[in-house]
Amino acid sequence: MKVIAPIVALGLIIVLAAWAPVGPKKKVSYTKEIAPILTRSCVACHGKEHPKEDLDLSSPEGITKGSEHGAVIVAGKSSESKLCTSLVAKGGDRMPRKAAPLPKKEIDLINRWVNEGAKFDTK
Ligand code: HEC
Repeated sequence: MKVIAPIVALGLIIVLAAWAPVGPKKKVSYTKEIAPILTRSCVACHGKEHPKEDLDLSSPEGITKGSEHGAVIVAGKSSESKLCTSLVAKGGDRMPRKAAPLPKKEIDLINRWVNEGAKFDTK
């Protein structure tokens, strides 16, 4: 028994460690992560005053309303959301217009946010 007990204990520790929850990946926050990107890279043209294509990206209301052509977000589907596809569009349609594309990290973040349901958190 003297030998077995530590081995059993060790085995138990290993099993429990393997079971330890792999903390759920934190959801992307609109307020903390998405809004700052849009404010920095998009709001110059898509702000409250005379927004291009009537698309105001400076507020949840504006983003939800979309452009003069309709919604720019299909919650849960980044591939169908203009907010996402415009970031990787070819040629002059790519946003932000007349500027370098957003870093891949930020494009991924926006895609994730849309795929997680495009929720507007307030904190
Ligand atoms: C320099 C000005 C400018 C900036 C910056 C800019 N846009 Fe645009 N955006 C435009 C113009 C102009 C249009 C109208 C379509 C066109 O002419 O390409 C447009 C159109 C769009 C559309 C298409 C709307 C529709 O329904 O057809 C989306 C989506 C969009 N922009 C998203 C963004 C996002 C997201 C950013 C920031 C990453 C951004 N834009 C930054 C000027 C800009």
